[in-house]
Amino acid sequence: MSEENRGSLRIPAHIAIIMDGNGRWARRRGMPRTFGHSQGAKVVEEILEDADHLGVKYLTVYAFSTENWSRPQAEVKALMNLLRRYMKSSLAKCTKNNVRVRVIGDKSMLDKDLQDAIEDLERNTASNTGIGFQIAINYGGRDEILRAVRRAAAQGLLSDPEKIDESVLEGCLDTAGIPDPDLLIRTCGEQRISNFLLWQLAYSEMYFTDKAWPEFDHEELLKAIDAYNHRERRYGGLTD
Ligand code: IPE
Ligand code: IPE
Ligand code: MG
Repeated sequence: MSEENRGSLRIPAHIAIIMDGNGRWARRRGMPRTFGHSQGAKVVEEILEDADHLGVKYLTVYAFSTENWSRPQAEVKALMNLLRRYMKSSLAKCTKNNVRVRVIGDKSMLDKDLQDAIEDLERNTASNTGIGFQIAINYGGRDEILRAVRRAAAQGLLSDPEKIDESVLEGCLDTAGIPDPDLLIRTCGEQRISNFLLWQLAYSEMYFTDKAWPEFDHEELLKAIDAYNHRERRYGGLTD
């Protein structure tokens, strides 16, 4: 893409990413799947910085789904260790870059020390005013909606059916207060949602690329944003 074209791009306020293909990328190189996850973790940090520099306000990444527990124990453990490392080592960088971290998903199923590290990072970055970085861990869209309904019930928000509207449920989602994604990117060829942000993706534009997550970079991000710039968002209405 030419420099001139880059300058005139409309930047989506919120980008969500299904970071897929770490395992396949590693296996193609004769390496264990966990090597792909380590590489993938580096790419997340780069893309967060790139997105921030481009003017993206929120970046949400799918790191571990409610279904990913069914993988071999060793792989689950490696993924949890990568997340643990991120939570424990990122405060200085987040502070420097003014990043606000929020973990979405059911944290109660995670090891206690990981839960504590998440809470620390969330608390210590909560007043940062730069990009909002949401990491989905033990996240499932259906599970999030169920938990939101339970939360709403516990707060007495469902007692009068007339008063139940979208804002009531939205306020109880893990993403409360965060605008819906404008653009969803999924890497490595699969064209499905895999239980990600079922409520929030209602009108997001979808972009699929064959590149595996460990090979996703600034140029690929620009390609996705360029594709987004060629979409016409109608939200069910008519444009002419
Ligand atoms: C994405 O890569 C990371 C997670 C789901 C944790 P995968 O691990 O799904 O890699 P593939 O899709 O099997 O190649
Ligand atoms: C989705 O990828 C979950 C994450 C990226 C964390 P999967 O690899 O788990 O999804 P499926 O199994 O291909 O649908
Ligand atoms: Mg996968």
